Parts: sequence; structure tokens; C-alpha cells
Amino acid sequence: MEVHVSDLTWDQFIYPRGGKSEKTISAYIEALTIGAQFPPIKIQRVFNYPSSTPFRKGGKGGFSDETIEVTIILDGIHRWFAFKESGIKKIPAVEWKDKPLDYEKNKTALLLEGAECNISHGDRLSSGDKKRIARDITTSDPECKWTESALAEKLGVIQQTVNTWISDIRARQKASRNTVILRLSRLGWPQEMIAKVVGLDRSVISRNVQNTKISDMHNLLSQGHDMDYVARHYHMDLALAWALRLEGKTDQEKFKELGWGLRTWDQWYFNECDERFGDDWPGRIPAQLVAHTLFFFTKPGDLVLDPMAGGGVVPDVCLLFERKCQSFDLALRDNRPEIQRYYWDPQNWTWPVTKKPDLIFFDPPYFSKKERDYEKKTNAESPSISSYTKEEYESFLEGFFLLAHRKSKAITRMALLNADWRDFESTPASKEKPDKSITIFDYHRVLSKTGWKVTHRIECPLSSERLSGNQVQKMQDKRILGTVGRTLLIAKRS
Ligand SMILES: C[S@@+](CC[C@H](N)C(=O)[O-])C[C@H]1O[C@@H](n2cnc3c(N)ncnc32)[C@H](O)[C@@H]1O
Repeated sequence: MEVHVSDLTWDQFIYPRGGKSEKTISAYIEALTIGAQFPPIKIQRVFNYPSSTPFRKGGKGGFSDETIEVTIILDGIHRWFAFKESGIKKIPAVEWKDKPLDYEKNKTALLLEGAECNISHGDRLSSGDKKRIARDITTSDPECKWTESALAEKLGVIQQTVNTWISDIRARQKASRNTVILRLSRLGWPQEMIAKVVGLDRSVISRNVQNTKISDMHNLLSQGHDMDYVARHYHMDLALAWALRLEGKTDQEKFKELGWGLRTWDQWYFNECDERFGDDWPGRIPAQLVAHTLFFFTKPGDLVLDPMAGGGVVPDVCLLFERKCQSFDLALRDNRPEIQRYYWDPQNWTWPVTKKPDLIFFDPPYFSKKERDYEKKTNAESPSISSYTKEEYESFLEGFFLLAHRKSKAITRMALLNADWRDFESTPASKEKPDKSITIFDYHRVLSKTGWKVTHRIECPLSSERLSGNQVQKMQDKRILGTVGRTLLIAKRS
């Protein structure tokens, strides 16, 4: 077959060439002028081609956002250039597969096909080109479908060479996968669910969990390395590294080692969040607050449910204190495999939790307060409850508490963290409209109405330092009464 040279795309990821050789092109042009015949180039039609990838079509470069259908060159880039530069419009070609392929799904196979052609003829691939191909493929293949020996065969090198090229990438991939497995299994996830998340067989999961020995962590610490170093050394997040370090200690010992004073009374004030645990997230709460709730109301091995997990501080603290945890949020993040995407929909209440929890740690967005922050992470079909009206917000809580009551055990505790919401920001205290506010008494009322008996009220105030001197001055001028109160209500089924 013959194709038009301007219909072909040079994809620089697929075509395995660090740079094209002008010398070869000139030699080909010269040969063409004396009537030389060239073997056909190898091409492939593909769809789902992300045209934001830099590409050259008919010699022109381009960028765009849509996916398109193109014909890419697998082998014969120098012949293609020689034809174009000689002004010859059509070039002999053979197609690798006789039907168009999904580019995204076949990227690696296309890359290797191109590489293999270049091993047998044309300008040989340099060792640097081969190394780049091996590393590109390995990076885009975390499930290790391409073995070292298969890569070695395709690239025409020995297996040991491939090994030295890619061993660092494979080590990182393995470590981060092991970290996910370890995190999820410690949080009590069944092996089938973990296998789905990491895309591995169940038997591999159980082997990984059993094989994890981190006995030399204590050596690293005794050599004077800090926990950041240890976490990096094991390619782990800090929370998991701490959890492993503290494994087997009592809750009291853990508080001590984490540098958290254990509160004896029902006033839990923490000046700031402990950066080691949970992600930066609107409405993030201090890990110490969660730790105290676990300390007083659960025991190791208990199951904690976090229905609106945000930045993941509850699962992190559950890891530390050896509690199991299931967590959900409407917003999903790559670095938090333990937070399952779930939208609590008041039009259609369902319960995604697999086992009955011992504690529900419920930290909903406070009414209206964070609306703008959460909006960025939501969409019209699944709005954050912070965008609700007062009536909708109360009715959401009522629906959730009723459902949770039905799905809990007799001993299940509900820990509800919330704050009085008053329209104080622009209104003098004496002018506030009480019908616009929601206070902790309203939450208490809704809990009681839905079958929960409040057993404890713990004050966990926010820091007043969040406001600048200027803002405070303005409030004082206008006689605005601020609120830093935040209350943790603990309830059990009545
Ligand atoms: C106050 S934040 C939780 C903060 C978390 N405890 C932390 O420390 O990072 C509340 C979370 O509720 C989520 N959310 C709000 N409405 C939701 C809904 N209907 N279903 C699921 N998640 C929701 C938001 O995405 C937000 O992450």
C-alpha cells in the first residue's frame, strides 16, 4: 500500500529515537534521486490519541486537548523525512495490525514494536534510546506485565542490562504498592478488597502482608535518623512509618512517644494540627482530638467509621492506635486509597459500610462555614452538605443519624464534632437573627430524636489566633461576638 506523507504522525514517545539523524536522511535523499527503491515503512492507525501530546503531522507540530484518530509511524522515520524533503507525496507502507488500535491501551506494545524493527535494520538504536524505552515502559507498567526477560528480548540486550536500567523504578513501584497493602490490611480491609485496589492477586497480597519485616527501623533510629528519614527509606508515608514504630505499645505509651499530653478532663484544646497526620484539607482537625476520642471510647481492634473523611486524619490515627477503619468522602484522592469515594445522598440513603462499627467519628462540614472551600471539590450532582440551607442541613443530619442507628450495634458510639454556627461575621451580637443559626443544642435535639443518647460533651475550642489583630479590632468596633467553640458530642444508642 501507499500512503500520503502528510497523513502520517511522528509520535516521539512511540518512535524510539532520541533524535533523528540528518546524515541518514541526506543519504536517503541522494539515493532517491538516483531511483533507489526503499522497503515500506511500518505504520499503525490509532484512535483515542491525546492530541495534547506534542505531535508532528506532515512535518508540522501541534497541541490540542481532544483525542483524535491518526496514523503513526512505527518504523521508517528517516525514509519518511527523505520522501518529504524530496517532494515525493506518497510513500510505500505496511500496516502492523490491520485495524485501528486504542492508542492509550497499546502505547507500550506500539513502542516495543517500533524498537524491535529498529534492532533489525535501519539506524541502530543507541544504548541510551533502549534505556529510555525500557524505563518508559517500566514506569507505565506498575503491574509488572513486562518482565525483564521480555524487555531484554524485544530490545536485543541481555536481561542483566535491563535489570540495571530499571531496578530503581521497580523497587519504588514495589515499595509503594507494599505500602498501600500494609496500610489497608492494618485498617482491616479484607484481602479481596485490597487486591482490587492494587490490581494484584489475593495470594500475592497475603504474602506481602506476611513478608513485611521492618526490624531494622529501630537500627536506623538508633543511628540518629529521624522519622522523616525512616519513612523515606521505606518509601512510606509518615503515618504508616509511625504506626509500625509504635506497634504493640499501649495507648498511653503511644501518646507519650508521639509527644501528645494525655488529657484527663473534658476540655481538649490543641493549638494546632499535628502536621504528621492527615492532609492539609479545609476543616482539617488535630490528630490529637481523634486520638483522645479513640482512647476514651474504643479499644485496639475496634472498627471506626469515618463517613466524611476529608484529609484522612481519622484513618491515620486509627493506624497509629491499631484500630480498624472504614472511611468515605465525596472527594477522592490518589494518595488516600483507604478513603472510598461515596456520596451520602439524602434523596437515596444507603449504607456502604461492610461491618457494624464500634465508633462513628462524624465530622461533617460545619453549616455554611466552609461552603466556598468545599465547592472546589464537588459538583452540582453531589454537592457538599455545607451548601445546604439550614432546614436541609438539619434534615440531612436526621436522615444520617437514623440510618446509622439502624446499622449500628447496641454498643456503637457516635462522636459528632460540630460548632455553633451564628451569623456573627458581619453582625453585632445583639442584632443576630437566632432563626438563622444552628447551635450544638440543635445537634443534641436531632441526635435524641433519632434514637441516640448523648453521654458526653467535650469542648474542643479552635484557636482564636486564626484571626488577625485587624480583624479582631473590627469585630470589637462593631460589637461582634465571635465563636471559637467546637464541641464533640458522644452518644450511644438509647
Ligand atoms: C469537615 S470535612 C472533614 C475533615 C476531616 N475530618 C479532616 O480532618 O481532614 C468534611 C468532609 O465532608 C465531605 N462531604 C460533604 N458532604 C458530603 C456528602 N454528602 N457525602 C460525602 N462526603 C461529603 C467533604 O468533602 C469534606 O471532605
